[in-house]
Amino acid sequence: MIHLKQPLALASAKGGSNAAGAPLFAAAACCGVQRRAAGGGSGSGRRGGRGVGRAATPRISCSTIEEAGGVSAVTVDRTLTVTATVTVQPPIGVMYAARGLDDLGDLFGKTLLLELVSSSLDPRTGMEKERISAFAHRTMKEGKYVAELTVPATFGPVGAVLVENEHHKEMFIKDIRLVTGADDSSAVTFDCNSWVHSKFDNPERRVFFTVKSYLPSSTPKGISALRKKELETLRGDGRGERKFFDRVYDYDVYNDLGDPDYRIEHLRPVVGGDDLPYPRRCRTGRPRSEIDRRTEKRRGPVYVPRDEQFSEVKGMTFSATTLRSGLHAVLPALEPLLANQELRFPHFPAIDSLYSVGIPLPAQLNAAASAAAATTGVVGGVIPRVVRMIEDTTDHVLRFEVPEMLERDRFSWFRDEEFARQVLAGVNPVCIQLLTEFPIVSKLAPEVYGPPESALTKEVLEGQMVEAVTVEEAMAQRRLFILDYHDVFLPYVHRVRELPETTLYASRTVFFLTQAGTLAPLAIELTRPQSPTLPQWKQAFVHGADATSSWLWKLAKAHVVTHDTGYHQLVSHWLRTHCCVEPYIIAANRQLSRMHPVYRLLHPHFRYTMEINALARESLINADGIIEESFWPGRYAVELSSVAYATTWRFDAEALPEDLVRRGLAVRREDDGEIELTIKDYPYANDGLLVWGSIKQWASDYVYFYYKSDEDVAGDEEVQAWWEEVRTKGHADKKDEPWWPAIDTRDGLVGVLTTIMWVTSGHHAAVNFGQYHYGGYFPNRPTTMRKTMPVEDNREEDTKKFMARPEEVLLDTLPSQMQAIKVMATLDILSSHSPDEEYMGEYAEPAWLAEPMVKAAFEKFGGRMKEIEGTVDERNNNPELRNRCGAGIVPYELLKPFSKPGVTGRGIPNSISI
Ligand SMILES: [Fe+2]
Repeated sequence: MIHLKQPLALASAKGGSNAAGAPLFAAAACCGVQRRAAGGGSGSGRRGGRGVGRAATPRISCSTIEEAGGVSAVTVDRTLTVTATVTVQPPIGVMYAARGLDDLGDLFGKTLLLELVSSSLDPRTGMEKERISAFAHRTMKEGKYVAELTVPATFGPVGAVLVENEHHKEMFIKDIRLVTGADDSSAVTFDCNSWVHSKFDNPERRVFFTVKSYLPSSTPKGISALRKKELETLRGDGRGERKFFDRVYDYDVYNDLGDPDYRIEHLRPVVGGDDLPYPRRCRTGRPRSEIDRRTEKRRGPVYVPRDEQFSEVKGMTFSATTLRSGLHAVLPALEPLLANQELRFPHFPAIDSLYSVGIPLPAQLNAAASAAAATTGVVGGVIPRVVRMIEDTTDHVLRFEVPEMLERDRFSWFRDEEFARQVLAGVNPVCIQLLTEFPIVSKLAPEVYGPPESALTKEVLEGQMVEAVTVEEAMAQRRLFILDYHDVFLPYVHRVRELPETTLYASRTVFFLTQAGTLAPLAIELTRPQSPTLPQWKQAFVHGADATSSWLWKLAKAHVVTHDTGYHQLVSHWLRTHCCVEPYIIAANRQLSRMHPVYRLLHPHFRYTMEINALARESLINADGIIEESFWPGRYAVELSSVAYATTWRFDAEALPEDLVRRGLAVRREDDGEIELTIKDYPYANDGLLVWGSIKQWASDYVYFYYKSDEDVAGDEEVQAWWEEVRTKGHADKKDEPWWPAIDTRDGLVGVLTTIMWVTSGHHAAVNFGQYHYGGYFPNRPTTMRKTMPVEDNREEDTKKFMARPEEVLLDTLPSQMQAIKVMATLDILSSHSPDEEYMGEYAEPAWLAEPMVKAAFEKFGGRMKEIEGTVDERNNNPELRNRCGAGIVPYELLKPFSKPGVTGRGIPNSISI
């Protein structure tokens, strides 16, 4: 918004000599000026007129400051000269001058056409005022374009700027700064940070709204129609293939993961719909496969709306040099190193040597890496570790960084207490539940899967209790917990076992909460369901007091952590954060104006998510992608996450307190509604609740500033349309669920916004940035199991080998060398913070800074996040908190708010961007 608090000295009023070299627009502006000048000068009051225009001709004779609709406005006669400076971000590593035709265009002044839109209507006609246009010139300062616009003094506040890019290439406009006359204090900045398409690609002009936020009902009348029109543009017409410069947000099902045109084995079911419910993704409109008409062709880069794409720094860091070229080029090039792709590690020292000796690289790979480094040298400092390791190598070997867990304690992965600790403070702390029903019984059909009774009986559990209590007493004291991967995996056991080199069980693990506040695993149950040819097999494993049962226990633990790794990656991480958030983003862009306060609150939390999800569809979760190749669910990976979505996902339980209550890890006190943790030292929950509380306070301050009553929320047509679309289009397969919260009060809106902001920040950080710390040493978190338990079939050969060399059986069971290396490289990349990461409470949006109350609330939010930083450190140094402090333990820093770039195991970015 241009706030003309007082009339400013006119630098020039020579409308006809507009130096932009655009006589048509200059003449139009001049005519407009003349018309308005003739009718001007009648403003009453002289508050703003002091000393103005004395040195300029013509002088302003009078002016009026009006406060209308919260906008300060000035009415003066005659004209003002407004200088508009457009800041364009030059592409990284490219000489800005080298742009051929566009440079010629710049020389002749055909650069950017700017058009100012008044916030107010013409009082005489009740119509929009005539817009004021001028071309911007390129200046000697790199990335700066300047226009001079002659604006009638009666124009009022500028509510929007339209931009037409006359170049043949798109331009990234950072901001547009308007200054009236020579007084820099009058400057008003339109925050753009957006790609503006070439008019040759799309003749429609881009609109940038004022930095001031407006609810729909208080939109200044002069830009009300533009507000609606812009949303129509963003919604598109749902037809045709999207082009890279488009900004259209629309929905589609996941029908682009398979590639039957390439290979029929790469056909995958469509996910999203009645058969396999799923959130929706961004529509790309690519043509359908010839082989399967339900499947979209996979060709070229995947469309995401232009402004959702990574910045060039992030692109260099993540996509360009790593996932796209890195994983696509580097990892396949490693394959010839291993003649046998299924080769296992010969012994544990060979795994350790990945961090010390490394893997010899083929010469051509080294050359390719060097070439890649040369082309990306401009941002050499931000290339992630895996690629940099290859680039830096002088001895032609790839060496992995020692993961934090291994660095601190080489043996912790083998111990029960670490196994249990990680369900509370590891990378998947969101699955442990209170045991509430006993005896444990499967809910699946016995006629299909066999007897439903669990092998984890009272006798088995009580035989392992570390304190003298019965199961009933322990349950009454809320001290028994379960990691339950039984009913969700049992239907997949036989199908997964048909995949090459892969096996699966359904599993349950029961833990006991000790007096020390730590968990002790009591027993593990592994189950193979019956099949037409096999009976059901299940067995309970306990640590035991002899070598054989101890080794079987270790093997059973390896199976459980593999189940946990798969569930973590597909459900806790991919589904619950990346995948479920995409519909909120699509709906927000389609239904909330850029000047809506809720859009501006959520915008930082949506940064880069659509792009990273597109990359995941391209390279991670696609048919034969890294997840299918290296994780045990193989081709059933996405299908399995769909089952989890159908059976367990609900929006209201994504709120951290509700999630804890639902899992029995907390209870809500009746007197004050506060929640109380069942396990006092539960690092994810302890730190998470601090972060949650801080976000909620910020959301509440924000919402209560913009909405003065609950009716304002209920009557906000854009917010209601957004939420309606999230439910009915983005999460269409769950649209009829009764648990969707209504947004009809301010507190209701605060609840929804807090949940979304928590999922994109705290939840994602907790399950994402520790992946290399814990999974970088793959025996701690294997991604697949290749052999069944030696006691399942009791084959003589298996038994003999197990009794002779149990370590060999464990190595046979763990992932192959190739699977391990690929996963380690992938986790390294996925655990990495980009140099342009934005952390919670760190950067204020320009719109927040423009409102003193909002600015103050945000500053308080930032202060709270800094306090949390200190609290986390204190907790990690408290020896009473044994789940995060102790000999060789990795401190719990995943919810520590800030971080430097790289793999740090800490830092809560605003959004899901990796
Ligand atoms: Fe992620």
